Amino acid sequence: MPPLILVVGGAGYIGSHTALALRDAGLRTLVLDDFSTGFRGALLGGDCVEVDLLDAPRLRAALATHRPAAVVHFAARCYVGESVRDPGAYYRNNVVGTLHLLEAMVASGVANIVFSSTCATYGEPDRVPIEETCPQRPINPYGNTKLACEYLLHDFGTAHGIRSIALRYFNAAGADPQARLGEDHRPETHLIPLALAAAAGRRPPLQVFGADYPTPDGTCIRDYIHVADLADAHVLAVQSLLAGTGGCRAFNLGNGSGASVAEVIAAVARVTGRPVPHRIVARRPGDPPRLVGSTAKITRELGWRPRRSALDQIVADAWAWHERHPDGYAQ
Ligand code: UFG
Repeated sequence: MPPLILVVGGAGYIGSHTALALRDAGLRTLVLDDFSTGFRGALLGGDCVEVDLLDAPRLRAALATHRPAAVVHFAARCYVGESVRDPGAYYRNNVVGTLHLLEAMVASGVANIVFSSTCATYGEPDRVPIEETCPQRPINPYGNTKLACEYLLHDFGTAHGIRSIALRYFNAAGADPQARLGEDHRPETHLIPLALAAAAGRRPPLQVFGADYPTPDGTCIRDYIHVADLADAHVLAVQSLLAGTGGCRAFNLGNGSGASVAEVIAAVARVTGRPVPHRIVARRPGDPPRLVGSTAKITRELGWRPRRSALDQIVADAWAWHERHPDGYAQ
């Protein structure tokens, strides 16, 4: 029987795409989710257990019952602004939840974990493209909690032999190329879905948060990576752990090139054939001008390459999902 992979947070955006990719790669999956932000419609019929990471006894029982070969851990709160207003919720969910998960893994002898980290752990980098060796100096509680989890992985590796890969995502975007899965956050705060909804006339004009940044067109530059490429990287990371590669490793996961907010708006107009109503407003606090990752390390060590992360491809796949599911997943 193929190895079982526990996908924690597998009803969410990146987790659901990854669960599908793991199954496509011939692995078995079990999603563990509390459905606080994920959707049952994103499971696509895959097996699931409903457990809250803060419920340590039930979590331990789930790990002991299923004894997965590896865990892929996505479950977290992920809004920078909300983390500033309510840091306690972020430390509880992200750090305490991850601590419970690692303790449950140790108790059941599960040694392998792939962890969703973020470029937010770098804060405002001194130079781009950002390499994994750049100092990690987060500038908000969300980034702090993800960095704290990376420390947990390191220390549980030393003490208990946990083998880990932290993937530091840049801007995840796009949707399953067959439009079976897509991006549905409530509330939605991300640029591409908001721009698509504005183009479709389903939302008010897009607010562009600042056009006075020190970038060529004055708008912020980000490194957008297709969620299907992200999912592929998780499959490679799991396979590397299952092959017995040890240690505590971290890789950037971006597409290696940047696009400005203005370039994203132009891409949305091109792909949809509709103008994107928008207006320029004040900067959003905490937005660095330019975040672009170097992906040389993951290409070198895991053989990963982005395949669908050209901006128009990302937008086209996100648009196909949006057209087919204008109101997102059924509740
Ligand atoms: N933007 C707008 N208008 C909007 C939404 C976004 O102009 O309505 C701009 C932002 O200012 C930013 C860019 O579009 O320059 C991308 O913004 P997103 O909110 O889509 O993504 P972020 O770069 O803010 O966030 C991403 C991840 C977070 C992670 C963060 C790390 O989604 O989970 O990177 O910096 F924490």
